[in-house]
Amino acid sequence: MLSFILLALLAHASPIQCKHPHPKINIIILAGQSNMAGRGGVFNDTITETLTWDGIVPPECQPNPSILRLTANLTWVEAHEPLHADIDYNKTNGVGPGMPFANTVLNKDPNFGVIGLVPCAIGGTNISQWQKGEFLYEQLVKRSQFAMQSGVYRAMLWYQGESDTENQQDAELYKDKLKRFFNDLRFDLKTPKLPIIQVLSAFYCFISSLI
Ligand SMILES: *[C@@H]1O[C@H](CO)[C@@H](O)[C@H](O)[C@H]1NC(C)=O
Ligand SMILES: *[C@@H]1O[C@H](CO)[C@@H](O)[C@H](O)[C@H]1NC(C)=O
Ligand SMILES: *[C@@H]1O[C@H](CO)[C@@H](O)[C@H](O)[C@H]1NC(C)=O
Ligand SMILES: *[C@@H]1O[C@H](CO)[C@@H](O)[C@H](O)[C@H]1NC(C)=O
Repeated sequence: MLSFILLALLAHASPIQCKHPHPKINIIILAGQSNMAGRGGVFNDTITETLTWDGIVPPECQPNPSILRLTANLTWVEAHEPLHADIDYNKTNGVGPGMPFANTVLNKDPNFGVIGLVPCAIGGTNISQWQKGEFLYEQLVKRSQFAMQSGVYRAMLWYQGESDTENQQDAELYKDKLKRFFNDLRFDLKTPKLPIIQVLSAFYCFISSLI
């Protein structure tokens, strides 16, 4: 009798154990400062005098059951704006580049599979805070490695650098620090060819061409 119960339990248990909730999630890491965290639709509410998100979700930022998000407490949920609400939690977050990117990928290739966004951006941070050994770097690696248990790294979107334009010395050191960060990350994630998609801000050139 006991062995029958055991067998019955095993017969039920094995398919549940083998069934993975999201086979091979396509992991896209989101890192950088406020523009990646998302400030779209954030305005200064003149009544409360606080920064508030207007709650408007444009079509390209709409949720999709095939787009997941890794929460701050390391659970996968369906992704909704603001993607960084529980990550950059001291700030008012709005819409950012993560959802439009994921929706565009799925529109171009409907067979791409499930996308898992791993938000890690924090507003106002500089490149020194993203160096190996610093909290943000270690947090990024930890969250990415957790995500990898359910999938495969596809890319990192990197939108950062504004904080390093405030003085000349930071700007001059930026390139080397950025290279070191990318190299360390690719090494630590054991993905030497991890595609990194970076936003190049042409603000300076644009301004100087106007003057
Ligand atoms: C919002 O605007 C008011 C004045 O219009 C200003 O005093 C306040 O500092 C602003 N708040 C933020 C968070 O920018
Ligand atoms: C983890 O975060 C999710 C989404 O924010 C929340 O629903 C859930 O209750 C949290 N779980 C724990 C254990 O804190
Ligand atoms: C939020 O603010 C607290 C208090 O200043 C600070 O300790 C913490 O590191 C901040 N966290 C983030 C994600 O900005
Ligand atoms: C980067 O930001 C941190 C935290 O705000 C600050 O302590 C540091 O001086 C900034 N700049 C550099 C070059 O580290």
